[in-house]
Formats: sequence, structure tokens, C-alpha cells
Amino acid sequence: MEVVPTMEELEEGSIFARAERAVRPTPGKAYAELAADEVLARIAERRRAFGSRLMILGHHYQVDDVIRFADRTGDSYALAKAAAAERDAEFVIFAGVHFMAESADILTGPGQQVILPDLRAGCTMADMANLDDVELAWDEMAACTTDTIVPITYINSAANLKDFVGRRGGAVCTSSNAAKVVSWAFSQGQKLLFFPDQHLGRNTCFALGVALDEMIVWDPALPNGGHEPETVARARVLLWKGHCSVHMGFSVGQIEHWRAERPDIRIIVHPECTFEVVQAADEAGSTNFIIETIQHSPPGTAWAVGTEINLVHRLRALMPDRFIASLSPFQCLCATMYRIRPNYLLWVLDELAAGRVVNVVKVPERIAEGARLSLQRMIEITG
Ligand code: 13P
Ligand code: SF4
Repeated sequence: MEVVPTMEELEEGSIFARAERAVRPTPGKAYAELAADEVLARIAERRRAFGSRLMILGHHYQVDDVIRFADRTGDSYALAKAAAAERDAEFVIFAGVHFMAESADILTGPGQQVILPDLRAGCTMADMANLDDVELAWDEMAACTTDTIVPITYINSAANLKDFVGRRGGAVCTSSNAAKVVSWAFSQGQKLLFFPDQHLGRNTCFALGVALDEMIVWDPALPNGGHEPETVARARVLLWKGHCSVHMGFSVGQIEHWRAERPDIRIIVHPECTFEVVQAADEAGSTNFIIETIQHSPPGTAWAVGTEINLVHRLRALMPDRFIASLSPFQCLCATMYRIRPNYLLWVLDELAAGRVVNVVKVPERIAEGARLSLQRMIEITG
């Protein structure tokens, strides 16, 4: 089969690659004009024809008309593990975002190819940390202390940052295993650098007993992260100044509103929400945790959910015997997850059927090596 090379192969992790990603081929007008029913029918037909040669992985934030074709659905950890366990499929189509497809590529075998139906499906939080800034911060931090600093990257990060972490004895974490990874990291050194999501870092470390005044936010736009060397020397946790714009849409005011409106309401949020929101909520955890907690609650339970809107809509449809609403009155949509439209899925399948493998996500081996270390370390720690 002809393999269309990706820009990632040419210049992994650079701004140049990201800019090029923005002009990669897309399905075009012919696919945009197809009737929705026809798109779904044609995907189903193609899916059947490929059989076990193909696996489709779908993140919980995907729209229903994409998730219905997923062989496996899950949170970012479950999907990384599914990719690592999959050895039969020649092609893994990732209905999710770019860092997830990269992780899948790193964890699958050499003969397997990972396809992201729209290469513009990135993650705005992942883009808040880049290798140059992290390397500079690392050197600046090291100059302030003799403590061992253990780097932890949230899986929402580019492959070259996972490589950076792997080569320095650190590990990747996800929202479902952050507590285990952070506990492990404290057994390896006195200080942690946690990036790119300051909120997941703060929420996790606080739950493990780290006081708020033992954590500082490292602003990569400022010299020495915006801190005096003594402040860095005293801190136990250095939190990168990054966030998820979707989860920043949830507030304590919304929680107060729901509690006043429905005294029986339970509030459940993703740990990418702010510290104040997580503290005010009844429960916080990964997308899998949110789904399982609501599923295990008795019928009639009322929930206000602080996570992406496609998942909230799906939960409501799946469990009509419970009251399920978004915590926010506004549409908290992950616009990049939303880029994976059914017509994009059909297009990559049509191209595959024609012998062309488009939108391959391929991490160069010089980067994959260290990144694999940090991902495998996470899997070993999590169990
Ligand atoms: P999960 O690991 O909980 O699926 O979260 C991924 C993510 O990007 C949330 O914004
Ligand atoms: Fe990234 Fe936030 Fe979208 Fe998750 S919800 S993929 S963190 S932008």
C-alpha cells in the first residue's frame, strides 16, 4: 500500500509541523455534501469489509455517530492500553486527538499503522508546553536546587515531551492514574515537575497531602518561571502553567446554583477543573470514573456533570432513569475532538480501501524510544 508521509516524520513536534498539519488533505466537498445516513451506511459497509485488519478506538468525547463504530471506547488510559494490547490489526483508526494517536503509535507494533481521521484534531492544553520551553525550565529549576526533580507529563502532551520525561527517569500519567504516578514519583525524588495541566497536578498532589503553599506555578513566559531561586528551592511541586479551556468553563458559582436548584443533586467533575471546583464537587475523576460512578448510582439519582458535552449527552441518553445535566449552562464542547466527523472517518476508510493510507501518525523512532519508556513506566506503575 502507498503510505502518504506525515509531517511528523519530517519535523516532529515543531511549530512548522503543526502549521503543516493545518493544511493536510481533508475529505473535501464531495464528502461534505453526502447525506448523513449515507455516510453512516458506507462507514458500516467499509468497517465490515476490513474485519480484523482494522481496529477503531474511540474516546468518550467523540460524537455518537463516530463512537457507534468504535471497537473499543475508553478514557485516555484505557485506549492507550487497548492500543498496546492490539497486535492483530494492521490499521488502528483513532477517533480522538493527536496526542492519543501518537501514544497509540508508540505502543503498537512495527507493522501497525495509526490513522487520525483529521490531523487538525489536536489538544489546546497539550500545545501549552513545548520542548524548548520545558528544556529551559528544567535547566532553570536545576540551577535553584540540589533536590532530585522527577518529571511527570500528563498524557495530553506531544511525543517529544514524553521522550524528554522518559529519558530523565519520569513517567506519563492520565487523569485516572495520576495519584499512583505522583506517589511513585515522590519515591524517586524530592520534587516533581508536573506538566502541562496545572489543575490535574494541583488536585492530585493536594489529595495526596501536599499543601497548596508547597506547590508553585511555573510560567514559561517569565524568567525562572516567575520565581526567586529560593522559592523554587522550597517548593515540592512545580506546576506548569497550562490548562484545558473546556474544563475551565466550570465554576463554583454553577455548583452553588445547582445545589440551590436541586438539593439532592450530586456534582461530579473531571480533575482538569480548577481546585476550587474540585473541592466544591462531590466526586472528581477521569471520564471512565465519571461514567462508572453514575452507572453505579441508584436510579433516580440526580447528577450535574463537569466534563465535555458529548459525554454528558451520551450519559443522559443511556440512563434516562437518572437526572443528568451539564454543570455548565454553556456548551462545554472540545472543538478539537469534534473535528473527527463521520465524513472524515468514511474518507480515511475509502482511501484505505483504495490502497492509500492517509493521515498516518508516525512518531520517529528517535523520539518514540524515550516516549515508550515513560508510557510503559506509567503502565507498570498503574498495573
Ligand atoms: P480522560 O483520560 O479522562 O479520558 O481525559 C482526557 C482528556 O483529554 C480530558 O480532557
Ligand atoms: Fe485537550 Fe481539553 Fe479537549 Fe481534553 S477536553 S482533548 S484536555 S482541549
